[in-house]
Amino acid sequence: MTPAHKPSLAERANALREQINFHNYRYNVLDDPVISDAEYDALMAELRGIEAAHPELITADSPTQRVGGEPAAEFIKVRHAQPVLSLANAFDAAGVRAWYERIRKLIPAGKDVAFTVEPKIDGLTVVLTYEQGRLVQGATRGDGIIGEEVTGNVRTIRSVPIVLRGWNDCAATAPIPGRLSVRGEAYMPLREFEKMNAAQLQAGERTFANPRNAAAGSLRQLAPALTAKRPLRILCYAIVEWQGGGATQAQEPRTQWELLQYLKSVGFPVSDISRRVNTLEEAIAYCDSYSARRDTLDLEIDGMVIKVDDLALARQLGFAGKDPRGALAYKFPAREATTLLRDVQVKVGRTGAITPNALLEPVQLGGITISKATLHNFDDIARKDIRIGDRVMIKRAGDVIPYVAGPVVAARTGAEKAITPPEFCPYCETKLVRREGEVAVYCPNIDCPGRLDRAIEHFVGRGAMDIEGLGSKIVAQLIDAELIGDVADLYSLTKEELLELEGFAERKAQKLLDAIAASRGQSLDRLIIGLGIQHVGEVAARALANYYGSLDALLAATEEQLQGIEGVGPVIAASILQWSGRSGMRELAARLKQAGVSPVQEPRRTAVPAEGPFNGKVFVITGALSQPREDIAAWIEQHGGKVTDSVSKKTSYVVVGEAPGTSKVSKATALNIPMIGEDELKRLAG
Ligand code: IVH
Repeated sequence: MTPAHKPSLAERANALREQINFHNYRYNVLDDPVISDAEYDALMAELRGIEAAHPELITADSPTQRVGGEPAAEFIKVRHAQPVLSLANAFDAAGVRAWYERIRKLIPAGKDVAFTVEPKIDGLTVVLTYEQGRLVQGATRGDGIIGEEVTGNVRTIRSVPIVLRGWNDCAATAPIPGRLSVRGEAYMPLREFEKMNAAQLQAGERTFANPRNAAAGSLRQLAPALTAKRPLRILCYAIVEWQGGGATQAQEPRTQWELLQYLKSVGFPVSDISRRVNTLEEAIAYCDSYSARRDTLDLEIDGMVIKVDDLALARQLGFAGKDPRGALAYKFPAREATTLLRDVQVKVGRTGAITPNALLEPVQLGGITISKATLHNFDDIARKDIRIGDRVMIKRAGDVIPYVAGPVVAARTGAEKAITPPEFCPYCETKLVRREGEVAVYCPNIDCPGRLDRAIEHFVGRGAMDIEGLGSKIVAQLIDAELIGDVADLYSLTKEELLELEGFAERKAQKLLDAIAASRGQSLDRLIIGLGIQHVGEVAARALANYYGSLDALLAATEEQLQGIEGVGPVIAASILQWSGRSGMRELAARLKQAGVSPVQEPRRTAVPAEGPFNGKVFVITGALSQPREDIAAWIEQHGGKVTDSVSKKTSYVVVGEAPGTSKVSKATALNIPMIGEDELKRLAG
């Protein structure tokens, strides 16, 4: 019998390195780890322990050596082996077809052309160079000819392989050339970006306007130890240099699709949403499908890249100016723009909340001209240090209301003015208050004229009494003419009064009166919504209508009852009691009743939750869906789910329709709550 071989420390260290590299590959490239994080950490700890005790055993490519080297004084310039090119753009399907029409003339007749479609990652281009399978250089794109050497920094990115798979330690012969340069995009995952920005804010440090800037700023740090702290990743998509001298079988991939598979097999992360398609129309359809889904990804993509799959053919196609003809970026509509913040306008919401709005120099964004955007609240303005006169970054995701993401600090001239939160209501000069635990400032004056228009707009709005033809302009006209002082006054308007107003003729006046009259038939829950009780959205309103059956009964609600109603929490209960306690509200309810607005329904005092696939799941709905929201909510409840009005930690999903509310979307993003569309909702129900 041979005695068991006791491995030397050097052998153990090597074995650990091999294992760690393998698990890195499973984790970063295959997205399919086979050990837990704790087990991985244990392997790293053991290796670190050996290396600490025996520094002579440390190797340059040890996975413990990702962060090393002294901070540099400046970046060293490096010349790329081949120009690092950019791409021509198309902005719609017609542009993509036009591109293909142009190149088809250069392609031999009858030749089948397939395409690879990849995400266009909105990050920072890096070129990674390997010699004998080892990372020897990382460089930024720079101007495409000369880049900056950032080897120490890219080494800190966990998904950048330091040793390619197949070199020396693995048994398999490496199909890797002696010198290989690969192009990829360094980026910051969205969730990590949000987390990092939140942490920076808390530490009083600068935040980044978008993940791209964050990635660029993180990679261009002179001290690798700083880069190491940033949650960067990489996805690779091209080979820029391939020189023999490696394993004999090393053969350069012949198609883009093969190339991606090859990169993945030797250890580079590649995007898992890339596809090979056989026709241009399939390519376009695939791109379009991601335009609609870009928000479901955890990274920012600004388009898709369509590439002629056959690399020899792509090379033959040559260049148009500086852009290779064989590939095209199909860009998604922009979601960001910068413009001048001219002024801040303060508005009073119908609950009294004071909201700052940005008045902007008009700017085009995603196909519309934007001249106003929300600034959330004054705390947010202070934290982001937004000033009047700043160039500001405006964002608009999907149909979300545009908002000011932050100032472009580099563009400051010194003439910018700080934005101070008002102390008094700009409409009624009442001293503003701040409620415990809330960021918003309120005007406590229930009769504030700033509120009236909003209250009436809300009452007549689509989700409430749905009075057609009563837009904000007419509401303002009615208030200015002192024809209405509250919502009940709407029901006593006369045709003569309306005809006095500018822009009103017989037909328009009659139509409006008919619409107002018709709203008497709206259901109780819509009336409750219309009254604008703070925190009471459509779900709570429905629960209240079901339980009480009439406005009178709701006005007599007790705390105990309210607490027992499914969908009504302590905050909503308190808000209802505060509302019903105001004498003005009782009076208003009485006047509405007199005016014939008194919907009643059978009170149903118990609710039995349904059994179904949504048991235990809590949904919040925002934006317009294919059916009225209450119908969708009812459908969710029939499937055993619960629907609430506001996003919290307890929310399982936010169902996002057209023109969703910014606060719900940003809250869901902050809390990491998945946002799904209607289709996915249906799919979840099976
Ligand atoms: S191919 C000649 N593929 O988008 C090959 N580029 O102007 C040109 N980008 O800065 C690049 N994702 O860094 C290619 N899957 C992808 C990409 C991609 C992002 C970047 C690239 C360049 C810009 C195009």
